[in-house]
Formats: sequence, structure tokens, C-alpha cells
Amino acid sequence: MIVAGNWKMFAGPDPAALAQRVADIDGVDVIVCPPYISLTRCVEAGLTTYAQNVHWEDEGAFTGEISPPMLLALGVAGSLVGHSERRQYFGETDADVARRTEAALEAGLRVIACVGETREQRDADDTETVLRIQVDAIRDACGAHEQLVLAYEPVWAIGTGLTATPELAEEAHALIKSLLDVPVLYGGSVKPDNAAELMAKPSVDGALVGGASLDVESFAAICEAASRSRS
Ligand code: PGA
Repeated sequence: MIVAGNWKMFAGPDPAALAQRVADIDGVDVIVCPPYISLTRCVEAGLTTYAQNVHWEDEGAFTGEISPPMLLALGVAGSLVGHSERRQYFGETDADVARRTEAALEAGLRVIACVGETREQRDADDTETVLRIQVDAIRDACGAHEQLVLAYEPVWAIGTGLTATPELAEEAHALIKSLLDVPVLYGGSVKPDNAAELMAKPSVDGALVGGASLDVESFAAICEAASRSRS
């Protein structure tokens, strides 16, 4: 099982306190994705640390971006790619997401690439089509790479307190896995009180946690639920 905390543009918890709290949780790959300024502190605390995004070039005139070798030099293990906030607010396309993912994997970073439909797309019965297009772009660029994980994050469930039902998550995860056979995390309002039922589903391989990852105890509780779910 994998549990990744996406701190977004928040300071997040104290890395050392978090590292100590999750150190003894068995069978779970615990990951944190802090803002760039906290990457080093998280690495130094011994946390498996991912960036929230990564560019496809090693260097160049790309203001505001960071490259795979730069992250590797900090001891960063991987990166999120294609989070819906990047797609929605910063115009990242499926082609961008594929390029970022491919370059990061080639450089030796691990990647959690995010996919998911909006409320309008779900209401219009377009969920399957949208997921196919998003996953195909990543698959065509990278295939089922060993260091690649996908995250299914229905956009309507992110930060809204609305969570996909375990059945709905399972259905989407099974579709995604049929397109690209890699682990698939669920994301979207995962909390200590719904984590266990989501992670009990056979095609749910862990969680990508936003809001609840900002608090040491709630993030640790989700990691513990992941640990129990496959034991
Ligand atoms: P949330 O965010 O847990 O706050 O809904 C999840 C995410 O955006 O990765």
C-alpha cells in the first residue's frame, strides 16, 4: 500500500514529528509531497519525499519550473504529475502530463500521475471517456513503468468533503488498471474515517491525501488504515 500526502501550497506539519510518528507503520510506503521550500527538510527528516510537479527539460528558460536532476540532487525520490489543480488552474494538458511523467521516469524519479473527471463530465456520463484519454496519454509515453503509480482523483471530490463511494472508486480503478497495469491510489477527501473502506477495495492500492495530510495524527491514522487493509 502507498499513502502520499499532498501538502499543496500549505506549510504542512513538522517533518521530523511526522517522520517519527509514521516510522513504525508496517507495509505502507509513506510519501510526502511538500511545497518546494520544504523538500530538503523532509528529506533530512528521513521521509520519502516527492515534489508536486517536475519539468521535462534538465535546464532552460522555464521560469517557475524545476527539473528532474535538480530534484534528484536534493534527495527527492519522485514527483506528483498532472494533479487536477495543475490541469484546471495552470492549463496543463494531457500532452504536458505525459511529457513530465516520461522525463521524470527516465531520470530515475518515481511518479504519481493523477487522472480524474470533473463533476460536469461525470454528470454527462463522460467519466470513462475522460479517464481513457488521460490514461492513454500517459501509457503511450511510458507504458507500465515500474516506478509509475497513477492516482484516481475525481475532481468533484477534491477538497469538497465529498468522497467517491468505495464501489464507485473500485469501478474507476478497475477501468484504469485495465488500461495501464500499475498501482492506483484513490484521492479526494480521504479522511481517517473513510480510509479503511476505500482501501479495502481490491483495486485501490493506497491513497493520495490532501487536507488530512496537513495534520500528523490524521495522516498517521490513514497510514495505519492502509497498513491494516492488506494484513
Ligand atoms: P483532498 O485533496 O484530500 O483535500 O480532497 C486530495 C488531492 O488533491 O490530492
